[in-house]
Amino acid sequence: MKVLMVCLGNICRSPMAEGILRKKATDRKLSLHIDSAGTGDWHSGENPDPRAIRTAKSYGVNISQLVARQFNVSDFDHFDTIFAMDQSNLKNILSLARNESDKKKVELLLDLLPHKKNKNVPDPWFGGEDGFTDVFNLLDEACEHLINKIS
Ligand code: 4NP
Repeated sequence: MKVLMVCLGNICRSPMAEGILRKKATDRKLSLHIDSAGTGDWHSGENPDPRAIRTAKSYGVNISQLVARQFNVSDFDHFDTIFAMDQSNLKNILSLARNESDKKKVELLLDLLPHKKNKNVPDPWFGGEDGFTDVFNLLDEACEHLINKIS
């Protein structure tokens, strides 16, 4: 199965989600292809935000070598499921969908959690380090549900 995590900049939320899911898959010896992308291209080519790298590292998840890239329409061909971090990302991804099959691949990440339907993973970019910890824990909860669903 191939999973793509998408946020706005691909330097905070989606690289953390990618790292968390990859670690869970590795720990359970599950073969998953995991990647992440941003709907915007301002940070393409950059490593994740240092606050995201530090937070993930404190939970044993290494995301320091990930490199940001922009979401593009060929991602609909390469991935089975595309998870959007918030409603705005969802809208932007759906605006690029070419057909119903593309649209069906896109989901809001927190829709995996029955008590968080239609909720957004908050953008931690403008806040402090605490926001990154909260986001990490939210992503970890969603990825735990996902890995249990897959396995
Ligand atoms: P992300 O956070 O979407 O979780 O990677 C952001 C990073 C950068 C910007 C916005 C959100 N930015 O405006 O540059």
